[in-house]
Amino acid sequence: MAKQIFTLNVNGRDHEVYTEPNQSLLEVVRDELRLTGAKEGCGTGDCGACTVLVDGRIVTSCLVLAPDAAGREITTIEGLADGEKLHPMQQAFIDHGSVQCGFCIPGMILSSVALLEENPAPTRDEIRRGIAGNLCRCTGYRKIVEAIESVAGS
Ligand code: FES
Ligand code: FES
Repeated sequence: MAKQIFTLNVNGRDHEVYTEPNQSLLEVVRDELRLTGAKEGCGTGDCGACTVLVDGRIVTSCLVLAPDAAGREITTIEGLADGEKLHPMQQAFIDHGSVQCGFCIPGMILSSVALLEENPAPTRDEIRRGIAGNLCRCTGYRKIVEAIESVAGS
């Protein structure tokens, strides 16, 4: 398939991308832009490891064709910190011991940030629903939910 040039705005910066139009957003973000926080788990939209924000909404980037994200604002986990200062949600996950192997964590944190943007004071059930698309094989979710609650309550 003939390659295309298009521009992706990722973490506030425009990147000119030259790639096949059938590449997923996940592939381009990881392989072309070298932002490897988003992970490939299932590749079929079921695990949430590849979650990024597109115009502030959570998206499974393995299911999005990269050219379809042109002209949108894409945020990956690498775009959350403010210089050396972690985003409060990143800090809360560390403080609550919410990270084990870490594979699910970038997607989990982005879903949590999007949840609180939409609903700054979610109930525990609403938090669980907000991260329902992000599967974690390690933690049992309790410490993740506690971390999100701590940011919501701060
Ligand atoms: S890798 Fe995209 S949802 Fe699992
Ligand atoms: S911390 Fe290992 S999959 Fe969630």
